[in-house]
Amino acid sequence: MQHSPEILKIVEGALRSNAPQVAAYSELLAAKLEKEGHIRIAQSIRKKIGQAGHSCSTTSVSGRLEPVVPVDKDSRLSLGDVIYPALNESQVKLHKPVQESVDEFLAFIDKAHLLSAAGVGISPSMLIYGPPGCGKTRLAHHIAAQLNLPLITARCDTLISSFLGSTAKNLRNLFDHAASRPCVLFLDEFDAFAKARDDQHELGELKRVVVSLLQNIDALPDDTVLLAATNHEELLDPAVWRRFAYRVQIPLPNRDTRTDLLKQFLGSFYPKDIKRIEEATDGMNGAIIQQACLAAIRSAVLAENETIDTNRLIIGLAKDQHQDIFGSSALSDEEKVIKLRETNSKVFTVDRLSSIFGMSTGKISKLTSKGVAK
Ligand SMILES: Nc1ncnc2c1ncn2[C@@H]1O[C@H](COP(=O)(O)OP(=O)(O)OP(=O)(O)O)[C@@H](O)[C@H]1O
Ligand SMILES: [Mg+2]
Repeated sequence: MQHSPEILKIVEGALRSNAPQVAAYSELLAAKLEKEGHIRIAQSIRKKIGQAGHSCSTTSVSGRLEPVVPVDKDSRLSLGDVIYPALNESQVKLHKPVQESVDEFLAFIDKAHLLSAAGVGISPSMLIYGPPGCGKTRLAHHIAAQLNLPLITARCDTLISSFLGSTAKNLRNLFDHAASRPCVLFLDEFDAFAKARDDQHELGELKRVVVSLLQNIDALPDDTVLLAATNHEELLDPAVWRRFAYRVQIPLPNRDTRTDLLKQFLGSFYPKDIKRIEEATDGMNGAIIQQACLAAIRSAVLAENETIDTNRLIIGLAKDQHQDIFGSSALSDEEKVIKLRETNSKVFTVDRLSSIFGMSTGKISKLTSKGVAK
């Protein structure tokens, strides 16, 4: 039967006297009915929620009735941020196998009630891991947008209270909140509170936090979508690792993904000689590529050009990637030239090094032939 998940949640909330849960799922039901054209009944449901007012502890965020996220008892700061990611703003470019896992995860959530009914359900949870700047956080936004659900991102800084005893309580409150409303719960920078229990340097209290985290994950209802992201997967406790039904690694983008990213970031400014940029972005993450593309577009707009200057973009990318060399005060310009040439001679051609450092091509050739020979 249609809408049975929402109806069951409303009944459950009512039996437990959990007004925010009833309000949240009623709002979801109203939204779905409205989409199907049942405007009158949707309006009536919303009116009822409105009449309940503050007793449902909801707040209105951009016209939506929004259950209030619990706060840390001591700092009074919210334990999570709620956003409604838009599909067009959260497009994420992934390797084919990663994309396939994500599609499978979404299809699984869509059919989760059938699996549960057949007694073979698993928790809709995904751990996203991999190097920084490759799209982990963005993927979480994308999944929430695809599911048309709000994303509650845990605020690690508030959750991990300075009073360590409160951390377990904060976790509990946040998980309970997530369980009482249709949402995706996202634990970003997950390693902050899921560090291995046998880490010698951690306080005993933090180890108890891991235990509490495990208990909270286990207690989540089957229909709460849980996502977590980390770029330190080696720090995760194996017990935490096992809790996630899906685990996807987002590595540095390969050539095809880099081409997709360049198309996305450059839009109509996409130049003809893109191949050289694809080569120059080898080994770079999406965040660096995006920054350099935006800078190149800004320059093109100021120069009133319709496409970006490829050479300029390649230099921008190289500067972003090798900030340690470019920004080093311990190295002279001559030493930087030698180092950069040694790092990547395809990107740091004699001509480019000459234009970056304002030295003649003759001088660059002399320096690099000496430096490389050394
Ligand atoms: N695969 C990708 N597809 C689309 N955009 C990407 C991708 N990788 C990076 N980006 C861009 O780079 C920015 C940073 O990505 P994001 O914050 O998702 O990285 P992250 O993997 O979560 O990094 P960190 O580990 O540092 O938190 C995003 O705003 C996004 O625009
Ligand atoms: Mg991130």
